Formats: sequence, structure tokens, C-alpha cells
Amino acid sequence: MRPLIAGNWKMNLLRRQGADLAAAVARGLRGTDAGVDVTLFPPFPAVAAVVEAVADSEITVGGQDLHAEDAGAHTGAISGPMLLDMGATRVLVGHSERRQEFGESDEVVNLKLKAALRHDILPVLCVGDTHDEREAGQTEAVVERQVRTGLEGVVTGRAAEITVAYEPVWAIGTGVTATPDEAAAVHARIHALLQELWGQAAESVRVLYGGSVTPGNAADLLTRPGIEGALVGGASLDARDFCAIVRAACA
Ligand code: 13P
Repeated sequence: MRPLIAGNWKMNLLRRQGADLAAAVARGLRGTDAGVDVTLFPPFPAVAAVVEAVADSEITVGGQDLHAEDAGAHTGAISGPMLLDMGATRVLVGHSERRQEFGESDEVVNLKLKAALRHDILPVLCVGDTHDEREAGQTEAVVERQVRTGLEGVVTGRAAEITVAYEPVWAIGTGVTATPDEAAAVHARIHALLQELWGQAAESVRVLYGGSVTPGNAADLLTRPGIEGALVGGASLDARDFCAIVRAACA
């Protein structure tokens, strides 16, 4: 399966800085074997500028969140049609920072994911266990609940449009990565669940790993079966590091 390497810039970079970083990534990847999909997730105000900056490349651009409704009285929110209007083709839903800081439940995440599909925006469903959940041996149960509820009502025919990202909360921004074995075990569980939901159609669903991915650990993670890409935070803010991670996925 073609890996997907995605950069989640979170709440960083002004428009000009975002466009410059995106252009540097596009330059850095020029001539790289086109066996890898690459998506950048800038903050909303930079999306249009980043779309423009990567227009001559294969890089695609996504939003970091969307509202479940298309329009209306939802102060501060961004809708699927607004993302499309800016040129975004993917969107993150259920990132742990949204769940923790903004109180998003699995049910809300599911509504957002379905809103993305309604507009043919490709959703990346983010799931992950906290440190306490892992210590309590609840990793599989938590991830299973997040995947099942997050994908509730998504019919088999749309499976190919879905990406799942396993991001253990304890590994995000901490420099502590899940070991390739730990990650691979959770990925295997997620793939089995997807198979249960969608049968053979689940084979086209990529499950990305996220959490302190760097050029130093990317190859070890990405060569494991069931890990079909990475969702990169901190290291995606450095063009050279991000391009090195993409090249690790090519290899
Ligand atoms: P870091 O790579 O900074 O740990 O962030 C991971 C992440 O949350 C990507 O969505």
C-alpha cells in the first residue's frame, strides 16, 4: 500500500511562514520517487496560501478540524465547504488535542467525519490512549471504542476514503515514541477491527502512526507491517526533517 506521510503543523506559523515551509518541502521532495502520498495540515488561515505554494507538486493540503454542520450559528468554527473553498482535500478529525482541549466526544468526532465524507473531503480519524489508560491496560479497549464510534454509520463503499491515525497521547510532543513493536500491536488491532467492519474493503485503509516521529525513528516504524504512514507534528515544522521522513517512507 502507498504510504501517506502527513504533517500536522498545529497552531504554528503565519501565512507567509507556512507558504515558505510548504514551498521548501515541495522543493525538497522534487525528484523523490512518487511512491508516497504527502499531505500538509496547516492552521486554517494558512491553508489557501499553502495550497498555492504546493500547486506545482503532488503534495495535498488538509484542514486540522471541521464543524459537523455546513453553515450556521457556530462562532469560530470552520465548515467542510469552507475547507473545500480554500483548496483542502483532507481533514483531521478527533485529534487528541481537540478531544482534550475542546472536549470532543467520540460522537462529535463521528459527526465531523461524516460531514467530511458528505463533501468528499478525505478524513483522517485520530485515535489514541492516554498514559493512564495505557498503565491501566486499557489501550486496546480505548482505541477500539474510538474507532468503532468514530466510524459508526460509514458504509463499506466509503472505506477507501478513510485513513486512521494511531497517536498515543503519551507520545505526542514528548519525544517518547511507542516502540515499533508497541505501535505495530495496536495497528494490527485496528486493522482487524476495520476488517470486521468492512471486510475486504478495509484492505485499502491506511493506518498511520503519530507521536514523536523523527527522521531517526521513522524507518523503524514505517517498515513494520500495518504501519502505512506517519502523522508528524513537531518534525513537520522543519522542511529538512519532514522530507527525510518522507524519504524513509519511500525506502
Ligand atoms: P509530535 O510529532 O510533535 O509528537 O505530534 C504528533 C501529532 O500530534 C501529530 O498529529
